[in-house]
Amino acid sequence: MGADDDARAAAVAGDVRAFLALVERGADPTTRDENGAHCLHHAAAANCAAIVDHLLSAGVRWNDVDDDGDCAGQYASGHGHAELARAMMDHATASEVRDGEASMSATKGASRRNEESEKYLATKVRYSGDDKLLDERGDAVMMSWEAPLMEAHADALCETNGDVMNVGFGLGIIDGCIQAREPRSHTIVEAHPDVRAHMTRAGWDSKAGVRVEFGRWQDVLPRLVEEGRKFDAIYFDTYGEEYDDMRRFHAFLPKLLREGGLYSYFNGMCPDNIFFHMVYNRVAEVELGALGLKVTFEMKSIDTADAKIWEGVTRRYWWGDKYFLPKCVFRGKV
Ligand SMILES: C[S@@+](CC[C@H](N)C(=O)[O-])C[C@H]1O[C@@H](n2cnc3c(N)ncnc32)[C@H](O)[C@@H]1O
Repeated sequence: MGADDDARAAAVAGDVRAFLALVERGADPTTRDENGAHCLHHAAAANCAAIVDHLLSAGVRWNDVDDDGDCAGQYASGHGHAELARAMMDHATASEVRDGEASMSATKGASRRNEESEKYLATKVRYSGDDKLLDERGDAVMMSWEAPLMEAHADALCETNGDVMNVGFGLGIIDGCIQAREPRSHTIVEAHPDVRAHMTRAGWDSKAGVRVEFGRWQDVLPRLVEEGRKFDAIYFDTYGEEYDDMRRFHAFLPKLLREGGLYSYFNGMCPDNIFFHMVYNRVAEVELGALGLKVTFEMKSIDTADAKIWEGVTRRYWWGDKYFLPKCVFRGKV
């Protein structure tokens, strides 16, 4: 066994003194074992907070995953070490919030380049029956199994029947739900030309009270702010974008929401890893909190187990049976 293996054995045993001595002498604590786990995973499984703290302070990433896609926090919770798992989630949240601040200040809050999104918006999409919108690779942009979730989002957003804005039309499910609740006005922001053409064919331009804004939200929202537009409710659900894009979207909320206004988003961050998903719920809570929004999550049960749902789709994108529906209330500028 080499020094790296010895350090890992010390982490497995929770032997802090031996571990620190080996690292001091040059052992690499991030050397992986046959399952892709390193010292952080093993120390977490051993409930050894001292080694975990040492590694996280030394810059080992909380989100390093083993070959099964599990991070160290999952080793802690999987072995029943709730207190350590909570501490690791606190660390992960703080670390992501810090990275987010750095990313925002690097671009002074302006939108960032996202090649995945650019590629999606520049290639064809197709509607497959009434229940799927697919991109060029056959990946689902939107599927009708999400309809009960869209209904629940619309319920939460349309409480005031005021001025509502939805960003991302897709299959138009949430827009149908919003229409059914007869808001004072209904603005839809959509960037894909094929989706926009579909909206015209489906008559969305001539619906009373509906205003369609064609373009990327990154381009449309600054204009809406300039025009002084205000909303009672805003929903965000795009495609090909990441949390860092959504973070930039969030920065517009205090300029567009009336006090007491409601905000929600499709909560699809890391849906196949509950620890990562919870970290991003917490990050959203902290970041939106700093913008003056109070965030709560309502848990919904969902069932996507039937293989038929995923027929004709290249990649299944949801595995869990729970959905954490975000409800955010704007309490005024902080
Ligand atoms: C997941 S679908 C929305 C589904 C919708 N919630 C529904 O109920 O059917 C995402 C939509 O966002 C659009 N989109 C993607 N990027 C966008 C952007 N930057 N600005 C505006 N719309 C965007 C996509 O073209 C697509 O129509």
